[in-house]
Amino acid sequence: MTRVFSGVKPTGHLTLGNYLGALRQWAEIDQHRADALFCVVDLHALTVHHDPARVRRLTRQAATLLLASGLDPELCTVFVQSHVDEHTRLSYLLECVATDGEMRRMIQYKEKSPRERARGGSVRLSLLTYPVLMAADILAYGTDEVPVGDDQTQHVELARDLAVRFNHRYGHTFTVPKATAPKVAARVMNLQDPTSKMGKSQDAGPGVVHLLDEPDVIRKKIMRAVTDSEEDVVYDRGSRPGVANLLEILAACRGEEPEALSGGYDSYGALKKDTAEAVIEMLRPVQQRHRELCADPGAVDAVLREGAERARGIARPRVDAAYRAIGLLPA
Ligand code: AMP
Ligand code: TRP
Repeated sequence: MTRVFSGVKPTGHLTLGNYLGALRQWAEIDQHRADALFCVVDLHALTVHHDPARVRRLTRQAATLLLASGLDPELCTVFVQSHVDEHTRLSYLLECVATDGEMRRMIQYKEKSPRERARGGSVRLSLLTYPVLMAADILAYGTDEVPVGDDQTQHVELARDLAVRFNHRYGHTFTVPKATAPKVAARVMNLQDPTSKMGKSQDAGPGVVHLLDEPDVIRKKIMRAVTDSEEDVVYDRGSRPGVANLLEILAACRGEEPEALSGGYDSYGALKKDTAEAVIEMLRPVQQRHRELCADPGAVDAVLREGAERARGIARPRVDAAYRAIGLLPA
């Protein structure tokens, strides 16, 4: 059976981008067709300035939202990265296979490190090495496929390179994984700045729709989305990014094609209204389940405990094999 692994960082409240680019596909498709593991990758939240209490809170919230989005612990494994030691154990070995040049070429590092410096802070070493930890997340489980949004393909490529290099040097140990992206909405853009990704760390910004936003808030954010100066509704990502983003969001909600939808509108107002209502309706059951799950935090903890145990059982033998292959004396 195909092994699928993916993760989400608890660095902010989950967004519509996370849902359309990742969570929905995990719940609707991946957990049914594969042996799938989904992980709240909390160690990755420590690579930039962080508040410990907030990371703890967001980790539980993200796990709860994964379940609310439809991940079923009977069908897949849901767990928290730091509960399974194999990730960091393997990460160090992969640091001995990766090169510093490779790390410095990572787009996210190049984008985030100046931002950290500009905040008056220094850049944590873990921001540089984080793609190696991500590779360890993936490789520890013998993963075949990694369903992620567009922004993560370079990191999955690195995991492939490291797997191939390790296998070549030390003998076959790792499956070589590949990234799989959703067909539409692989990259949901910020409603106020449709040339940049809708990301969680921009937090309270009006361009970011959060999964737990009230319907009124969602409506307001979408109705105020930045569009373009032309008034006709044409699907063209390059010259009309604002409208293209709305068409893609609506298409993703309805399971249709953005191009085909554009013909049905002659004003931005109507498009925004339909998009807002479609998003609100899509998120309604997720928010409802989230409320129910929050009423029973013990049940969520139990799912995470069992998930971690199962994950450990899968990862352990492969990571042990990697320790032996690379030349470490068995304990
Ligand atoms: P992150 O929020 O970076 O932890 O990402 C978790 C998952 O959501 C990854 O698979 C990302 O590729 C995906 N994702 C995050 N933001 C977006 C977005 N704006 N559009 C599409 N996918 C996204
Ligand atoms: N780096 C990913 C992101 O920012 C999150 C992540 C960490 C991940 N480890 C992973 C995704 C392993 C897929 C597989 O979105």
